[in-house]
Amino acid sequence: MDVGGEVRRRYGAIAARALQRSRREGGAAVQVSLGCGDPVSLAGLGPGNVVLDLGSGGGRDCLLAARRVAPGGRVYGLDMTEEMIALAARNLKGTAGVELVRGEIERIPLRDGTVDVVISNCVINLSVDKGRVLAEAFRVLAPGGRLAACDIVTRGDIPAGIRAGVGRWVGCLGGALEEREYARALAGAGFERIQVEVTHLYRAREVLGFLEEKGWDIGSMVPHVDRKWGSASIMAVKPAL
Ligand SMILES: C[S@@+](CC[C@H](N)C(=O)[O-])C[C@H]1O[C@@H](n2cnc3c(N)ncnc32)[C@H](O)[C@@H]1O
Repeated sequence: MDVGGEVRRRYGAIAARALQRSRREGGAAVQVSLGCGDPVSLAGLGPGNVVLDLGSGGGRDCLLAARRVAPGGRVYGLDMTEEMIALAARNLKGTAGVELVRGEIERIPLRDGTVDVVISNCVINLSVDKGRVLAEAFRVLAPGGRLAACDIVTRGDIPAGIRAGVGRWVGCLGGALEEREYARALAGAGFERIQVEVTHLYRAREVLGFLEEKGWDIGSMVPHVDRKWGSASIMAVKPAL
């Protein structure tokens, strides 16, 4: 299965619908928030910071970050979907200090050591090469720079069939890393002072409720799904020289 292509199509379609709506409604910006937390608050941004948002989507976190890094800061919003970049451009019109860049988080089109803070909101779980994404985040960060991300993680073992099934129904859950595996992947990329803090564990009905509404009997799946997926706040630091 072409996972990257599927992700691109899914988010391209979401952005295209939002763009159509905003055009139909006479140009009002349509904010699409597809995140699972608040990386901007987590990041502790300040004036002058250079920030990179991995998978910036409709641009909400870029907007919030731009307010915090002014004056003198800069925010790069990186997304692979042309439609998301177009939507973010519309939403961010008139916002100073933001540059939207089309590209992949596995190949970040920025130079080494040029970013103070990498933020990301519910995107890294979608990548089929998370090790590479974290290595790329590490590369573009300046020494002493930090990663502040919100993402989906899993807790404990989940049978492969359940994971694959849930992933098919709710795209962002299928590829989520187990919380300790996430910490190990960050360490593998070179980060230190790593924190992976689960902020909310999803109850089975939060994940599968829509199947129940369609008349499915989800009873046998509940124990395998209940409190197995969660949102997490993730912090890690690139060692100073
Ligand atoms: C769940 S949405 C989150 C968007 C945004 N961060 C938010 O909080 O609303 C995922 C976004 O990541 C983008 N994306 C997914 N995989 C990507 C990749 N490998 N490289 C660049 N962008 C990617 C998608 O196009 C989409 O805009």
